[in-house]
Formats: sequence, C-alpha cells, structure tokens
Amino acid sequence: EPRPPKPPLKILLCSPRGFCAGVVRAIDAVERALAKFGPPVYVRHEIVHNRYVVEALKAKGAIFVEELEEVPDTQAPVIFSAHGVAKSVSAAAEERSLLAIDATCPLVTKVHREAEIHWKRGRTVLLVGHAGHPEVVGTMGQLPPGAVVLVESVGAIAELDFADGANLAYVTQTTLSIDDSQEIVGALTRRFPQIVGPHKEDICYATTNRQAAVKQVAPHVDAVIVVGSPNSSNSQRLREVAERAGAPARLLQGRAEIDWNLFGSIATLGITAGASAPEVLVEEIMDAFAERYEISVETVSAADEDVSFPLPKELRAHA
Ligand code: F3S
Repeated sequence: EPRPPKPPLKILLCSPRGFCAGVVRAIDAVERALAKFGPPVYVRHEIVHNRYVVEALKAKGAIFVEELEEVPDTQAPVIFSAHGVAKSVSAAAEERSLLAIDATCPLVTKVHREAEIHWKRGRTVLLVGHAGHPEVVGTMGQLPPGAVVLVESVGAIAELDFADGANLAYVTQTTLSIDDSQEIVGALTRRFPQIVGPHKEDICYATTNRQAAVKQVAPHVDAVIVVGSPNSSNSQRLREVAERAGAPARLLQGRAEIDWNLFGSIATLGITAGASAPEVLVEEIMDAFAERYEISVETVSAADEDVSFPLPKELRAHA
C-alpha cells in the first residue's frame, strides 16, 4: 500500500554557518596534541562550547577540567580553550612547569592585546560583554583586578562613575549581537565622547557573517533552528537575531531535541549553526525533517569566508 505523500518543506540553509576558523584550530590543536604526545591530553574548559565535540575528544583521550588546579603534575600537555584565559592561568602553568598549549582564538588574543595597550596608555578599559562567560573572564584577567570594567547593557552605562573627560577605552566580547553591541557602544560614546574604541570591530568575522545570514533568512520562514549548545554565546545570539527578525527560533544540540509540536506543521524552515557546532549535527537534523517532509533545500549566502589560522606553535609540523 502506498504511503500518504509527505508534506513539502522548504529549508533555507544559512551560509556561512557552523565552524569558524578559531574553532577548527582549537579542535585541531587537541587532535594534534593527542597524536604528538599520546593520551592523556588535558584541556582546560570545554575546548569549544559543544557537547558533541567534547565527547568525541574525550573518547580519543582528552581529559577536560575547569581549573588548572585539577591537572596533576604531569608531562602531558594542557591546552587552553578557544575562549582564552586570564594571565594568572598561564602564569600558574609556567610556575608548575606544565606544558601549556594555548588554543585561544587569535581574534580573542587580539582583543587581549588591545586591552593591554589601552591600559599602558593610562586608559580605564570598559569591556562590553556578558558576565561569567569564559571569554569575558579571560579578557578581564589580562589586566590587574579592577582595571577592566564590565558593561553588560545600555542601562548599566548610567551607573558608570567616571569624570567627564576621563581617559577611557572600550573593547568587546567577540561573539556579541551586532545590534546590541552597536546600541551599547552608541550609548557609551554619547556619554563619553572621548572614549577610544577598536580600529576594527572586536566582534569577529564569524559572528558577523552568521548573524547576517540568519537575519536574511528569518523573515522568510515559519521557524528557525540554530544548531548549538546552550552555553555557546554566539549560538544564543543567533537565536535572538532570528527571533527579532520575526521567526520563532530554537537552539538545538541535536535531532533528539526537535520539538515536533513546533516543527511538525510548517512549510518553511531556516537552519543555521553556531561557530562551535559541527556540520554532522546539521545533517542529522535535516535527515529528521526528511523523514517527515518532502524537503527541498536552498542555501542563502550572506558572505564568503576564507579564514584560517595556523596551529599553536608547539604543534606545527616542524615543532
Ligand atoms: Fe574566534 Fe570568532 Fe570563532 S573569535 S573562535 S573566530 S567565533
């Protein structure tokens, strides 16, 4: 007996989506370290914020810890995650003669160096970002305690207690919402016209391009899926951007989390993935939809990307 025909579903696939150059480099670093030194390899914090990636690396012999104190005295390498670390962490590793390999994304390191230069020039540094995110902890930890002031919202600017004309600069987290960050930076520069900012945006190319693509797609679909983990800042921002652009959006870690009450009777669907989400998770979600719908897929491209970063020096071929 022929099965009833499946309803059609048009999928608009955002491009770019998924892995950025910093994530590729960080995952490669763990894999190369495992190949070069053999297991175990310690990794401080989730190398990138994705459970699937972390579980896969655990299976290959990576041991994840939250703090350096959890690493025993060992010859094994200790890799710092893509989000970056406070200077005190690198110093503690050196103190203990641990073999530290820094997988901090070069675009995060760039922000670290900016903050440091501002401080050396006598400026108080304001960091626009989300409290508690490891990147924010790492960036604040580039300077002595109290030297960096976190600004989380436009509302918080009214409470800043600096004299008119104070010597100020700002830097930002790399994975913010472009729109929120423009609003906050706009309010900062209205209140402190003398404030010095980055030459080029601190929000990275990958964040910018993924948000642009989902913003383009969201108005044309019944719902949006962002593939990514709840602790991934850039993935959460993609979900917000999609919702603000008019589509109900869900952040999903994999096909098991698809809520068919929401996605069971739609005609169009947008799909994107956070910078730490592997493409295989996008594919399995598409497969789940293909089981229920007659899908057609169209890619909507907001930018071309051609960025890659060299591995940490300890792991390059000649090292
Ligand atoms: Fe780096 Fe941006 Fe990815 S800061 S880790 S390229 S999301």
